[in-house]
Amino acid sequence: MPKQDTVTIIDNATGKKAEFPVIRGSEGPPVVDIGRFYRELGYFTFDPGFVSTASCRSNITFIDGDAGVLLYRGYPIEQLAEKSNFLDVSHLLLYGELPDSKQHDQFSSIIRHHTMINESLKGFYDGFYHDAHPMAILVGVVGSLSAFYHDSTDIHNPEHREIAAHRLIAKMPTIAAASYKHSIGEPFVYPRNDQSYCGNLLQMMFSIPSERYEVDPIAERALDMIFIIHADHEQNASTSTVRLAGSSGANPFACISSGITALWGPAHGGANEAVLQMLAEIGDVKNIPRYLEKAKDRNDPFRLMGFGHRVYKNYDPRAKIIRKMCHEVLNKLGDANDPYLELAMRLEEIALKEDYFIERRLYPNVDFYSGIIYRALGIPSNMFTVMFAIARTVGWVAQWMEMIAEPDQRIGRPRQIYTGASRRDYPDR
Ligand code: CMC
Repeated sequence: MPKQDTVTIIDNATGKKAEFPVIRGSEGPPVVDIGRFYRELGYFTFDPGFVSTASCRSNITFIDGDAGVLLYRGYPIEQLAEKSNFLDVSHLLLYGELPDSKQHDQFSSIIRHHTMINESLKGFYDGFYHDAHPMAILVGVVGSLSAFYHDSTDIHNPEHREIAAHRLIAKMPTIAAASYKHSIGEPFVYPRNDQSYCGNLLQMMFSIPSERYEVDPIAERALDMIFIIHADHEQNASTSTVRLAGSSGANPFACISSGITALWGPAHGGANEAVLQMLAEIGDVKNIPRYLEKAKDRNDPFRLMGFGHRVYKNYDPRAKIIRKMCHEVLNKLGDANDPYLELAMRLEEIALKEDYFIERRLYPNVDFYSGIIYRALGIPSNMFTVMFAIARTVGWVAQWMEMIAEPDQRIGRPRQIYTGASRRDYPDR
């Protein structure tokens, strides 16, 4: 048997030595198992932002940030975006394999027949002002699903887990479209089970009861591709939030709702909305140098939104696909000379020549161009992160299912460096 790799740590203060096993995944750098670090050496480890810390084992998604590679269950994202569709990719993420034609029919029928939401849920929307951000509504309504679907909240029952997964994937477009309809004061549109996943979302967002609505196949395919690209991204902030919430035994609806809250931040999924705001603020190519100076200034909170990534130190492969899509979609559906696309491309071109961005290896990420496509599809900017949440739901659910099924699953409970007051007595007054 080959000798197992270890890493030896020597405590210079005491001379104490301890060996820690090295774990190798199928891809990626080796990982030191420090589970016994405190017991062996009496130290905690400190890694804010989890820059060097693996929080779990996972079979689902792999990113090579230096090479700009993203794989779902081993398949490159470029091939999935070109050849597959969102529901087949969802099957792949949930069950580990692409469906054969029988499995495809079964899975898409299940998802299409779970699209309705309980009628009482519709009453929730009336509690929100018309100007509520659709992400705020999404968090509330998805969290409330656990109050309705008691027959799928027993996390120890695999059938419950699977039904909850199907319900979440199927109902998310219905809930999201209803948030949009509420914000513009139009009646909710019921799902149509003869439509594709994205076709159904488009008709629930854009049709009105008084008129016929035909789903545009170009818009439908564009949205489907964007959803494939956003479906999973291993242990990012929202997925880690879902796993941490789930590690306590919380029900899946509550866990996904907590993932949505984490996604909303502008450093994560909220960046797609922030990119459009930034482009609007920059306004003109001539202002780009001034905004780049702001982005480089440590004393200025301004950052180039849609740029940079914790893991990708190369062009984000998703951004490459979306950048190409932008031209195709805008040529067919929108304004081929969209000033925002022109501005974004010039901004990218100029930024990528600047030492600041080269040295820090900052490239456009998935959010840099996605908003421009959403705009061409007629989707307003406050719905951009909602679109991301719909697509990412399958990733969250797959990661949650994987975690719950682990035989040695434990509650997530990080340590801290306490820097507050040491023990002191309550003063006599
Ligand atoms: N504009 C200007 N400077 C930046 C940017 C940016 N967008 N991103 C990173 N930097 C600088 C940062 O100031 C730091 O410089 P220094 O070394 O001088 O202190 C260096 O680059 C490293 O940045 P960091 O903040 O330590 O990197 P991080 O891994 O902690 O943060 C990030 C990653 C994505 C939060 C960050 O790049 C960022 O805020 N980008 C803008 C927001 C954005 O586009 N987010 C979407 C991410 S992709 C979609 C998703 O997964 O949700």
